[in-house]
Amino acid sequence: MCGIVGAVAERNVTPILIEGLKRLEYRGYDSAGVALIDERDGLHRCRRAGKVSELQAALAAAPLAGRLGIAHTRWATHGAPTEANAHPHFSGHELAVVHNGIIENHEALREQLKAKGYVFTSQTDTEVIVHLLAEKLKGTGDLAAALKQAVKELHGAYGLAVISTRQPDRLLAARSGSPLVIGLGLGENFLASDQLALRQVTDRFVYLEEGDIAEIQRDRLTIWDVDGQSVEREQVQYHEGAEAADKGAYRHFMLKEIFEQPDVVQRTLEGRLANDHVLVQAFGPQAAELFARVRNVQIVACGTSYHAGMVARYWLEDLAGIPCQIEVASEFRYRKVVVQPGTLFVSISQSGETADTLAALRNARADGGYLASLALCNVGTSSLVRESDLTLLTQAGPEIGVASTKAFTTQLVGLLLLTLALGQVRGKLDNALRIELVEELRRLPARLGEALAMDRTIEKISELFAEKHHTLFLGRGAQYPVAMEGALKLKEISYIHAEAYPAGELKHGPLALVDADMPVVTVAPNNELLEKLKSNLQEVRARGGELIVFADEQAGLENGEGTHVVNMPHIHDILAPILYTLPLQLLSYHVAVLRGTDVDQPRNLAKSVTVE
Ligand code: G6P
Repeated sequence: MCGIVGAVAERNVTPILIEGLKRLEYRGYDSAGVALIDERDGLHRCRRAGKVSELQAALAAAPLAGRLGIAHTRWATHGAPTEANAHPHFSGHELAVVHNGIIENHEALREQLKAKGYVFTSQTDTEVIVHLLAEKLKGTGDLAAALKQAVKELHGAYGLAVISTRQPDRLLAARSGSPLVIGLGLGENFLASDQLALRQVTDRFVYLEEGDIAEIQRDRLTIWDVDGQSVEREQVQYHEGAEAADKGAYRHFMLKEIFEQPDVVQRTLEGRLANDHVLVQAFGPQAAELFARVRNVQIVACGTSYHAGMVARYWLEDLAGIPCQIEVASEFRYRKVVVQPGTLFVSISQSGETADTLAALRNARADGGYLASLALCNVGTSSLVRESDLTLLTQAGPEIGVASTKAFTTQLVGLLLLTLALGQVRGKLDNALRIELVEELRRLPARLGEALAMDRTIEKISELFAEKHHTLFLGRGAQYPVAMEGALKLKEISYIHAEAYPAGELKHGPLALVDADMPVVTVAPNNELLEKLKSNLQEVRARGGELIVFADEQAGLENGEGTHVVNMPHIHDILAPILYTLPLQLLSYHVAVLRGTDVDQPRNLAKSVTVE
């Protein structure tokens, strides 16, 4: 994922920009660049394919200095990861732009601008922005006014930073679908796509909102909202302790990571949604062309990531009409697989280093029969990402707790984006449903926040499990993998034996185990399987089993003798697996705390299994 850093100061800002880029490296990128304005001899840049360290080496050999500058790490979407495609992009020698996101109408804009005489030197969508701005600047002479006019013509998603020799005292920024934050200093100000990049220079931040345009000077900040009105945005003070490698106010990393989910889901969506559809290019330069040829999907993963893939199978077949197979990597890698023509190989991994998943990918590539490989991963620099044709990075940030939580929900979000993208490209997804789901995705972080607000209720319920040795988790449809993930969490961190079943299988065996000592946990959104699920619950109650049901508030389920109902906020059925995961995570967490286990580092388990 791309990163932006900018600065306007009275000192040379090059070291600030480079340090900022380094702090964004974890997001994954394939080229880097910086542009500076030196009041005496104008605009200069340095760009390199590869790592920030290569850019640094180039700058050490031929230093650039200036009091105004922008910098970027690029993750290629339009055009290969070459120096010519790296940002900043220039128009003439007076204007420079860095851009996160995707401009969908870049081809049409490119033709218009070429007709006006602008010469393009890259294959990127970003270069149209800088020439469009140059065109507007001719008319207005003012950078802010030009930017306001230019963004009206851009379709897609962007976070932009702009500098010009015409007004070498200001840095301009625009946000739509891709985050930007302004860092406030004393007599100097900064800009970045993530406040993490600026932590070394300030602890005061102003977050831009959708549609905002900002003019940042050394000692002045002006922001206009989407309607062009001048607005004040709240200043936020960053407190030590919000650091990823720090538990902050939380007792365990796992709890902190559970509570980060609204935020990291939001980040995973950023830059990937246009008004009413998913931006297919977010999956890589060749994605649109490749997706059109996908006839089948093979998913491979381990552990929690495998459960995410299981949910995706329901989505892919239901929404995109694509047959999907899923298998744990340790099995897949050792058997002869018949590859259907047009199969997209999808690997899912938080770390991108899991030995079995990596081996499965390597086998698939060696087989040669797959259309392409796509990695859904949380670590941009991982082996899995490097060895795959396409990548979608989840933005969960570092996950410290061994039991995966925020990585799982961001994987689900990524897989839903993939499903919608495939459905769109293949014309299989109903328009009204697509628009509805994009809306629901935008609302998802807030809904996750509502689910987390039930923490106290769930903590109380966890007492029912403290002395138990066995539990059963039930779900139907796409909630079956959610039940599996709930059972995995409980066994990993509380050491209580937990098994998950599709609720319809209850009477084919596990019902024999049910008695007052075996709590049965069920996830019950309000879908067409609800009535069937209610009958399954009766089967448990009839055997004296204690029921804990997480149910849609409209499902009509009520507390009763031996039945504990936790009402969940109503949500679109397709997104329910993401929401219903949260109470199960909280339940496991509180049970583990009650039992006094090592929540963040459960016995015998490792965060990343890099050996067989
Ligand atoms: C280990 C971890 C799990 C994780 C699995 C797959 O077992 O303890 O939390 O789900 O590996 O890891 P990956 O990094 O490939 O998602």
